[in-house]
Amino acid sequence: MRLFLDTANIEQIREGVKMGIISGVTTNPTLMAKEKGVSYRDRVVEICETVNGPVSAECTARDVDGLIGEAREISAWHTHVVVKIPIDEIGLEATSILSKEGIKINMTLIFSANQALLAATAGATFVSPFVGRLDDAGQDGMEVVRESVEIFDQYHLPAQVLAASLRHPRHVIAAARLGAQIATLPYALLKAMVKHPLTDVGIERFLADSQAYEKESARSGA
Ligand code: G3P
Repeated sequence: MRLFLDTANIEQIREGVKMGIISGVTTNPTLMAKEKGVSYRDRVVEICETVNGPVSAECTARDVDGLIGEAREISAWHTHVVVKIPIDEIGLEATSILSKEGIKINMTLIFSANQALLAATAGATFVSPFVGRLDDAGQDGMEVVRESVEIFDQYHLPAQVLAASLRHPRHVIAAARLGAQIATLPYALLKAMVKHPLTDVGIERFLADSQAYEKESARSGA
């Protein structure tokens, strides 16, 4: 399973990349809006130069021609760019045209396995079920991941399931166990995955014991 960061914050991305565990980034207009003083294009290019993998940048046009033009433009910014397109009729139409041109699409705002199947059939490279938002609405978001993985496997569809809108560490474990190829993590979730209170206690104790041992060795001249 590959882990992506779900952020447009360059410091967070640098941190994740430095740890050697992040192989892609997803952004969306909401995440971009949090970044001040930098243009959309400049930030996407900066992210592409920081991470050695796919970087999803979202299209906002609301007609097929607009989406196609925007997607072609965004995808030309850098070889790492994957164009994010929300699923609906115009999104599917644009995706089926763009995918034939070799442009990589991350079809987003997926809330059902039917939508995932349509996205994969239109030629999307990545299909992004929004797990947390479904959970928020009282449904089992992970069920869409389960069904999508099963359907893509059954018919050897090349699209990859990118589990998105993940909110807590158990979401990541569930997506991994179900066979989602990618999980995209908000930075806080990445930090939460690293942490365990018993690890902190263990490190402190090993440190204290090793200092006590060094002290005793020095005292006894051993
Ligand atoms: O990648 C999609 C993600 O950014 C949505 O997350 O937490 O806004 O539902 P959230």
